[in-house]
Amino acid sequence: YEPPAFDSNCMTLTRYVLAEQKKVPSATGDLTQLLTSIQTAVKAVSSAVRRAGLTHLYGMDGSTNVQGEDVKKLDVLSNELFINMLASSFTVHMLVSEENETVIEIETEKRGKYVVCFDPLDGSSNIDCLVSIGSIFGIFKKTNESNETNVSNAFQTGRNMVAAGYALYGSATMMVLSLGQGRGVNGFMLDPSIGEFLLTESNIKIPSKGNIYSINEGYSHLWDKSVTEYVRRKKDPECGKPYGARYVGSMVADVHRTLKYGGIFMYPATKVSPNGKLRLLYEGNPMAFIIEEAGGLASNGKIPILDIQPTALHQRSPIFLGSKDDVNEFLKIHQS
Ligand code: AHM
Ligand code: MG
Repeated sequence: YEPPAFDSNCMTLTRYVLAEQKKVPSATGDLTQLLTSIQTAVKAVSSAVRRAGLTHLYGMDGSTNVQGEDVKKLDVLSNELFINMLASSFTVHMLVSEENETVIEIETEKRGKYVVCFDPLDGSSNIDCLVSIGSIFGIFKKTNESNETNVSNAFQTGRNMVAAGYALYGSATMMVLSLGQGRGVNGFMLDPSIGEFLLTESNIKIPSKGNIYSINEGYSHLWDKSVTEYVRRKKDPECGKPYGARYVGSMVADVHRTLKYGGIFMYPATKVSPNGKLRLLYEGNPMAFIIEEAGGLASNGKIPILDIQPTALHQRSPIFLGSKDDVNEFLKIHQS
């Protein structure tokens, strides 16, 4: 038995981002700094997630512990971590969080040029039963000239993102990041022994076709004809080898599996929620950015998710994403 060598030249996430920054002569280093603050938030969330049962972070909010301090639920704590780390990074102009109804302003003297839209802890229904959850983020440059906080900065199409990613708190913690512009998608695993994200999956490409479909089938009575027909075909041996069904109910886990193994993830419109459930700014857009950069497709059924013009902070959109062939097969049925 030979013990694994200790890599003395490991590619950390910070090192990767720094190297990419140096390729752009005009870059200021602000994005590197911003991503460092997200890394810190994610490390803290990861630690909190892993210790939640021991530190009374599950369940109820509003109670106090023996020291008389407020007990914070994991999602409240995660939101505070993201806000505090980003707001103190001197790189951010304003923030949009799933947990906050309005935009989060940054103190004037700490403002920078970036706008970050994030879901600090997605998959809330899975928290208390220890199933995978995640954080999602998308980063834009502000477009409005004014230095005043203006919500219009958040109403850019996903195509404008300069970077997007997610952290998956699964059997291990992994951060998946894309800096866009064809620079691909990379996966960094958190090594808790050194507290760093290390590049473990470089240039991730999604298979062009998979054999898994992922949708909440409990709502099938509310689907439209095309979704019903597509899912029927995926189970019908007459239409080819039937697909496997997988649905975690945490978008990050379902999307990460789709990225790695291929197939399709769907959260369609239903009769009761005409725009589905998932939010465009901090769920749909960042995931669509990653999937497209990895060679897949992400659509609302009509146009690419990344081309949707946002008009409200928390607007929802139906979403169909994954392997090119699988998404195209669905779209063909949906659009005919
Ligand atoms: P949340 O923001 O309240 O956690 O909800 C988002 C989650 C996604 O992670 C997941 O894809 C979806 O909700 C599952 O919804 P459903 O239980 O309706 O299938
Ligand atoms: Mg969410």
